[in-house]
Amino acid sequence: MSAAERQPVTVPRLAEMKEAGERIVMVTAYDYPSAQIADEAGVDVVLVGDTAAMVVLGHDATTPVGMDEMVMMASAVRRGLKTPLLIGDLPFGSYEASNELAIENAQRFVKEAGCDAVKLERGGPSVDRARAIVRSGIPVMGHVGLTPQTANALGGFKAQGKTAETAARLAEDALALQSVGCFAIVFEAIPAAVTEALMPKLEFPVIGIGAGPATDGQVLVLHDLLGVYEGRKPKFVKQYADVRSEMLNGLRTYADEVRTGQFPADPEHSYSIPQEELEELARYLEEESLAGTNTPWDW
Ligand code: KIV
Repeated sequence: MSAAERQPVTVPRLAEMKEAGERIVMVTAYDYPSAQIADEAGVDVVLVGDTAAMVVLGHDATTPVGMDEMVMMASAVRRGLKTPLLIGDLPFGSYEASNELAIENAQRFVKEAGCDAVKLERGGPSVDRARAIVRSGIPVMGHVGLTPQTANALGGFKAQGKTAETAARLAEDALALQSVGCFAIVFEAIPAAVTEALMPKLEFPVIGIGAGPATDGQVLVLHDLLGVYEGRKPKFVKQYADVRSEMLNGLRTYADEVRTGQFPADPEHSYSIPQEELEELARYLEEESLAGTNTPWDW
């Protein structure tokens, strides 16, 4: 389908896609040009993820990023998107303390950045926050399994639900988020067989990242799939391009051409001036009186 024919992706459209067995394509984005590219590539859902803390801002965890930074990135992404559903990821510390705080920050994503929905991590206490945000009129996506904001409590960036007991807890969390009205959920780093066992119980779309092929859709971090980010690469990442090498080659060639005087070329990268204007300037510059008199503060 061409870009012009594509209809905006809405929350009900995602439910229809699940119903029809159409796979949902989701990706992260953090700025205007990557949002435009995601749009042109025809992805269904764009998440301004708190992974920005790592892949854009250079932290070694997702926890340091704050609401102001997230809203700024989400606004830029909004300007680059036409059809995908745009989700703002509530960062660590922006929703846990109270329902009021959660609603306030979810509203910031909608009012200041033009997001269509928000995402929050974990079951347990987050279920109440999700309920409150949904009741305030903002669609919410859940996120269970490996939840990077609480990775320390989970023992690091590890797969979750590898025992019957922890897998059952995952199922309870997912069902609780579904019951309070979340429109979809992310399953991160969960054994494929566990996902397969849970799927028949879940009516809302499940988007997987390291959760096997049985989900209704997949999400990857843009900088991982394009090969921009050099840091930790989880097992579930498939790299589809080597953009970092391209950028490195481009920058090295630029540096080389500046140093050797090949860039900028004249006239390709330079502006021109009419000959008579240039001659007049030359006469002016040659004038005896010019030297030392017209200092900038005299002008
Ligand atoms: O922040 C993020 O990028 C995410 C995705 C990995 C789902 O939460």
